[in-house]
Amino acid sequence: MIISSSLDYREAARRRLPPFLFHYIDGGANAEQTLRRNTEDLNNLALCQRVLRSVGEIDLSTQIFGENIDMPVVLGPVGLTGMYARRGEVQAAHAAAGKGIPFTLSTVSVCSIEEVQNQVNRAIWFQLYVLKDRGFMKNVLERAWAAGVRTLVFTVDMPVPGSRYRDAHSGMSGPNASVRRLWQAITHQRWAWSVGLFGRPHDLGNVSAYLKRKIKLEDYVGWLGNNFDPSIGWHDLQWIRDYWKGAMILKGILDPRDARDAVKFGANGIVVSNHGGRQLDGVLSTVRALPAIADAVKDELTILVDSGVRSGLDVVRMLALGADAVLLGRAYIYALAADGEQGVRHLLDIIAKEMQVAMTLTGVNSISKITRDSVVSLAPGSV
Ligand code: GLV
Repeated sequence: MIISSSLDYREAARRRLPPFLFHYIDGGANAEQTLRRNTEDLNNLALCQRVLRSVGEIDLSTQIFGENIDMPVVLGPVGLTGMYARRGEVQAAHAAAGKGIPFTLSTVSVCSIEEVQNQVNRAIWFQLYVLKDRGFMKNVLERAWAAGVRTLVFTVDMPVPGSRYRDAHSGMSGPNASVRRLWQAITHQRWAWSVGLFGRPHDLGNVSAYLKRKIKLEDYVGWLGNNFDPSIGWHDLQWIRDYWKGAMILKGILDPRDARDAVKFGANGIVVSNHGGRQLDGVLSTVRALPAIADAVKDELTILVDSGVRSGLDVVRMLALGADAVLLGRAYIYALAADGEQGVRHLLDIIAKEMQVAMTLTGVNSISKITRDSVVSLAPGSV
C-alpha cells in the first residue's frame, strides 16, 4: 500500500498485526473519550498562515537536557515494543539515533536496557514506573546508568492501570485469551514468522534479568497490576531524585498545580501527558492542558508533551503552546509494526517534512520562533 502519513502506517499496522496487539496500542481507556479528544482538540487548533516572510532555510534542530537533537521529537516509552516488530526496541532505537533524536526504552520492554544500548551509538533514555518492588527500581536504575543512560523518564500517572475495555475483546486479556492470541498469530503469517517465531525471546527483558526467570506475556498485565502502588506520594520519590544523578523527567502531568510541585521536587522536565488516553478517561486533552502548565512553569523546567501527536503539524501546534519537544507513541509503533526500522525512519522524515511546510507557511525558520502567534483556537473556550 502507498504510505504517505502516519495514518497510512496505522492502516498498514492494522493489517499486519494480530488484533490483540493492534488494539492494545490503538485503544484507550473506557469509552475512549480522552483518546479522541487528544486528536480532535489538536485539529481544532488552527495554524496561522503568514506569507512573504523571507523564511529561507528551515532549522529543526534544538537542545533539551543539554542534548542536541535534530528535531524536537523523541520516541516515547511504549511497553512490549518488541512484540510489534522483531527485537522492536533495537530497531526503533536505531531509527531514532539515525535521525538524531532520543529513543526512550520502557521498563516493560521486550529487549533489555543492555541489549538496546549495546547496539545503538546514541545514549537512550529510560522510563521507569513507581513500583512496589524498590529492589527492582534500584536494580534497573543502576543498570541503566552503567549502560550509559543519563535521562530518566519517570511515569507518575499509573498508580493503577486504566480500564482498557478493548483488551478484553481483542484477546489481550479476558476469557481464553491465550488460545485466541495463538489463533490470531497463525492467521497473521508475516507477523508470526518475523516476530512470533524469529523475534524470540518474548519476555520482559528488564524484569526477567532482575527476577532471574522468564516473564511471559501472560504474566505482563498481572505483574504490572500487582506492582503498581496507589499509596505513593511526592516524598516517596525523593530517594529516586537523590539517587539518580542524570536528568529526571516526570511523565503524566496534566495540571499546573502538579507542574509546580514537580518544580519544587527538583524535576528537570515534565511530560504533559494523559498517557495517550489510556489511563483516566474523561480528562483534558494534552493540547488543552498545555498552555496553563506552560504559563506556570515554562521558565523553570523543560516541557515535553505527548498524547495525540500524529503529524509534523501537530508538533508545531504543541510547540506553539509552550512545549519544548514532543514524544511520539502510537505514531511510531504503527510505522515500526508495518516496516521495522525503515518504517520509523520514513515516518520521522514525513514528520520533518510536515514541520518544514508548516513552519514555512507560518513564517518561522527555527524552533525558538514558534510561538502562540503561530496558532489560533477554533473551539470557543478551548486554548
Ligand atoms: C503502559 O504504560 C500502557 O499504557 O499500556
